[in-house]
Amino acid sequence: MCGIIGYVGKKQAGSILIDALKRLEYRGYDSAGLALLDRGKIFPLKRVGKVCELERAQRHFRHSGTIGIGHTRWATHGNVSEKNAHPHLSNGSHFAIVHNGIIENYLQIKTFLSEKNYTFYSDTDTEILANLIDYHHHKATHLPFAEIVRKSLLHVEGTYGIAVLGKPFPDEIVVARKSSPLLIGLGDGENIIASDAAAIARYTKRVVYLNDGEIASVRPDHFSVMTADESSVDTVCHELDWEIADVNCDGYPHFMLKEIFEQPTAIENAMRGRFTRDGSSTKFGGLSLTPEALRSIDRLFFCACGTAYHACLVGKYLIEKYARIPVDVEYASEFRYRNVPLQRNTLVFVVSQSGETIDTLAALYEAKRKGYPVMGITNVVGSSIARATDAGIYQHAGFEIGVASTKAFTSQLTIFSMLALLLARRRDMDQFDGQQYVFALKSLPKVVGEVLKLSERIRSIAERYCKRERFLFLGRQAMYPIALEGALKLKEIAYVHAEAFPTAEMKHGPIALVSEETVCIFIATQRELLDKTMSSLQEVRARGGKVVVVAGDGEVEWEVFGDEVIRVPEVHGGINPIISVIPLQFFAYYVGILRGCDVDRPRNLAKSVTVE
Ligand code: M6R
Repeated sequence: MCGIIGYVGKKQAGSILIDALKRLEYRGYDSAGLALLDRGKIFPLKRVGKVCELERAQRHFRHSGTIGIGHTRWATHGNVSEKNAHPHLSNGSHFAIVHNGIIENYLQIKTFLSEKNYTFYSDTDTEILANLIDYHHHKATHLPFAEIVRKSLLHVEGTYGIAVLGKPFPDEIVVARKSSPLLIGLGDGENIIASDAAAIARYTKRVVYLNDGEIASVRPDHFSVMTADESSVDTVCHELDWEIADVNCDGYPHFMLKEIFEQPTAIENAMRGRFTRDGSSTKFGGLSLTPEALRSIDRLFFCACGTAYHACLVGKYLIEKYARIPVDVEYASEFRYRNVPLQRNTLVFVVSQSGETIDTLAALYEAKRKGYPVMGITNVVGSSIARATDAGIYQHAGFEIGVASTKAFTSQLTIFSMLALLLARRRDMDQFDGQQYVFALKSLPKVVGEVLKLSERIRSIAERYCKRERFLFLGRQAMYPIALEGALKLKEIAYVHAEAFPTAEMKHGPIALVSEETVCIFIATQRELLDKTMSSLQEVRARGGKVVVVAGDGEVEWEVFGDEVIRVPEVHGGINPIISVIPLQFFAYYVGILRGCDVDRPRNLAKSVTVE
């Protein structure tokens, strides 16, 4: 989604802004822009489309400067156009602003400012902020820049991460945050601000994260932070401990394919150092729960969005099966506005690859407001969710760039599987079963490597079905969320209508969709209920539907009834969902490619969803 960058120092800001904006591209956007302060005046430059368009335009831009702000926009208010792209300037060009988030009362503020003769040139909520800041400046020209911004924000309802450039303040950028991430990267005689550490990690590893309600003044040699109620803030400087390699595909045609192939490593990293010495259980240093606390849990509650939500559903099946603890799973976007009754002794987890999903963050705050300690599972160290949770588990899956989550999903499944084992061993699972489970987990990277060899076979299946418009994904028990994930991947990447159901639900309605045009993908890798799945398959065949089966390499003769059979190794139930989803990731990828889709940056989507 939208990305923010700002630079103040001695170097030419333009090229730094463009470089950093490129590193934000993976988040998804539709236009980009920057503004430089050049010899006392602010000059904006914007382009619809990719950052390379902006870069091209910048080569002919007559303005330069050592201070500037930049933005990648994902449209919310107003269509995709240059006029709506950021930065937005105040009337008279005294201030320029870039903004992530949504100003909910913008119409009210617009009416107020219109009455003061301000004119608006875009359809955005952001432009009103530029003029509001200008209004407060003109009311009290002696005020410091940060104070003007602070006073302006007191009138604003909604969410924002902003960076503001002011003509009267030639060596200062003011930034502020409410529910939208922002950090200040500290340099030597220069500072750089961003909404995402990925944008600035090549410039500095020393960062200060802004908290909600904080406003910062950033100059080349100095920065200071205050809160909305004017208290000063003692900041903490963090070292980015993750290497952000230069963003490239390492010879793969797309990040999505690269990340599918990175799964053995991502899974290995999720497990590293997390097995107990006796080889029958797991441990998570970050959870900080005593054995007694773990034993006293009566219920678990998981909250997430999208693919992470599917990981939670798999977690529910595994934990209920192996540890016999009831688990509830909610979409974070629903939970945040529902008054969900939570029982005592419920352990709450929020799960998010990016750690920045606004709905998941809001769900976290809601659970904390109710007095529950909240644990997190996230991939991004230092992300908003990582910092707001009481404790948690890092995935260590490595940077995921493709908008469609793949390796982060299987890494989350690995963590849930390990959590199921941990909880099971605190209850009824004996040492022998625990050792078998650990053995299966340790074999995962190798088994996943085997499944990756199916790439070409799945490509050829995708070639046969890529023109179809209707896909049903069917699975039972833990394979139902895997079916949901398979359908989501196909929708996201190939823009094909796909739905998922628990297999036996077909005859309660969805089977009416089956015709010769329909492709039904059965995920039949678990040992239980195979004969029932076979009956459902026959029902589809009897109605002319095409059948693709993802099956274990056991004895069932799926080939007799399925049009296509994809065989994966038969494995322990605790890791089976991980093995089963990989063919579906490949399938979505190849169908997307064959249909000419931009699989790494699918239309309308963003890598991290930071607005509601
Ligand atoms: O960063 P998060 O895990 O919180 O993201 C949640 C969803 O937005 C995300 O999983 C989305 O569904 C992906 N595009 C899935 O591929």
